[in-house]
Amino acid sequence: MMDGLTRDPFREDVIKGLGQRQKAIPSRWLYDEKGSKLFDEITELPEYYPTRTELKILGDRAGEMADAIGPEAVIVEYGAGSLLKVRILLDALERPAAFVPVDISASHLEAAADELTADYPDLTIKPIASDFMASNLGESLPEAAGRRAGFFPGSTVGNLLDAEIHRFLSNARADLGDGACFIIGIDQPKPPRILVPAYDDAQGVTAAFNKNLLTRMNRELDANFDLDAFAHEARWNESDSRIEMHLCSLKPQTVRVAGESFDFQDGETIHTENSRKIALDRFAGMAEKAGWSLSRHWTDEKGLFAVMLLEAD
Ligand code: AVJ
Repeated sequence: MMDGLTRDPFREDVIKGLGQRQKAIPSRWLYDEKGSKLFDEITELPEYYPTRTELKILGDRAGEMADAIGPEAVIVEYGAGSLLKVRILLDALERPAAFVPVDISASHLEAAADELTADYPDLTIKPIASDFMASNLGESLPEAAGRRAGFFPGSTVGNLLDAEIHRFLSNARADLGDGACFIIGIDQPKPPRILVPAYDDAQGVTAAFNKNLLTRMNRELDANFDLDAFAHEARWNESDSRIEMHLCSLKPQTVRVAGESFDFQDGETIHTENSRKIALDRFAGMAEKAGWSLSRHWTDEKGLFAVMLLEAD
């Protein structure tokens, strides 16, 4: 438990979010240790196509991506995580000079970077423990003969709102500098009959992932959510082209969180995640406004997922 003087960003986001007319909690709080484990399980589900589809695209086309990036490059991975996907790219690149994984979880990052060092002894690895939305990474980037390439797989960019995407891409453009490129994986729009089961699977793993946020609030914020009084919901929002995860109250109830009370009507929800499906032309427009041009892309044969290559203007 935090004392009253220490800033607790989780507490602040929850108290603010539960006070809104549409209750909402930022999706990054889904990823505590249990949540990260459950997300890893999600990536293995038959209904959840994005991870395996992106891995297949990377596996099939890493050679073309490496040719586009060129030799002796500095790769900067945003929101790096387990570093599994970047290995596919590193293996294809010609003499990559340096790899800079940026991740908010310092301990996770160190462990993943150590494992990578063992397998790539000639690569300079310089982890940066930071929110990937932070700016001014530029000065921390190693010098090399080749160019700088951003790497942001996993469609995590789809969790962000328009203004956040603009800020992220503009910061990356400034940090990576002139002559840089950026490889970014984005899930594509498709019919809700495919999308909804991907976020509401038969085994209930996604439901457990979403409801883990209630468990986390009970543990870390001294809340008293009854897990049986809320249901997981995955909604396709057509006009915003996004899957929304919600936690739906199954009855009228009052919940205590961090010393405050919050009323729920029957059917009222907490919005816990947006997973946007951003089509190529739309993303090209967003990139353009932040100083990047969409130069090419790679996709699977069904067009489920796209890996895009941006070039700095
Ligand atoms: C990790 C944000 C890409 O949006 O598909 C999976 C998270 N949420 N199932 C996604 C998620 C529910 C995932 N991202």
